[in-house]
Amino acid sequence: MPPVSLIGARLTRNGRSHGADRAHHRDPAPFLAFRCGRVAGGANGVPQLPSPPVAEGVVIRPERDADHPVIAEVVRAAFVGHPDEVASFVERIRASEQFIPELALVAEDSSGVIAHVMLSWVGVEGGSRTRILNLTPMSVRPDRQRIGVGARLIRDALGRAEEAGEPAVMVEGIPAYYPRFGFEQASALGFISPHPKIPDDAFMVKRLPGYSPDLAGRIVYPAAFDALGY
Ligand SMILES: CC(C)(COP(=O)(O)OP(=O)(O)OC[C@H]1O[C@@H](n2cnc3c(N)ncnc32)[C@H](O)[C@@H]1OP(=O)(O)O)[C@@H](O)C(=O)NCCC(=O)NCCS
Repeated sequence: MPPVSLIGARLTRNGRSHGADRAHHRDPAPFLAFRCGRVAGGANGVPQLPSPPVAEGVVIRPERDADHPVIAEVVRAAFVGHPDEVASFVERIRASEQFIPELALVAEDSSGVIAHVMLSWVGVEGGSRTRILNLTPMSVRPDRQRIGVGARLIRDALGRAEEAGEPAVMVEGIPAYYPRFGFEQASALGFISPHPKIPDDAFMVKRLPGYSPDLAGRIVYPAAFDALGY
């Protein structure tokens, strides 16, 4: 099974996703078609919203068991091209030793859960620590995209990671999106990608105050990532 990109959804002016179209094409080179960095909306000239409304009344909190069904709906809607794979990915992380309940977060407003993100452990070989936080997957309900919800959730998650004393957070993500939160190219800091086909600019790390250069090593994705075809 070719690996599933977590950047499968491409947005149009009205915030709808084109991920389904992409999936149905079943591109012969899925990595190139789907992987991080290849479908970033801004980089590919997708029109920007002129004046996006700002998310209001949004609360961010750790997920609860009762949220699981609605989280699955949000994830499936966000990753419309690969709903089963990414929903299964979330469940597999949750069921694994790499899951960190305090760092699996939802954003909710008066309509309920509108976004979800997980920070969980991935392995590091050859670094000063054997594990490091990794941000994935990141899902905003399509009708709440591009109004700052994702940014709120990511900033909140990074703040919690910092408060927990963690030195860094990895992400395999949209190169046009994550640098605004301080993510930078991980390979330039000595990290080695967990998969050779991940575009270098999509393999990023956010250094937190506890960061030290000897953290760098080879990132190893745990078994839960098998759900994506790694
Ligand atoms: C990508 C995603 C998490 C962003 O969250 P969001 O709440 O919609 O985004 P925000 O409102 O915080 O930020 C909006 C900015 O992100 C940019 N952005 C959003 N999606 C983007 C994409 N796919 N590619 C490039 N830039 C993107 C917008 O252009 C906008 O940029 P601007 O501030 O310069 O105008 C969300 O759109 C989503 O869930 N998408 C589908 C699933 C997905 O691709 N997840 C990401 C996995 S790494």
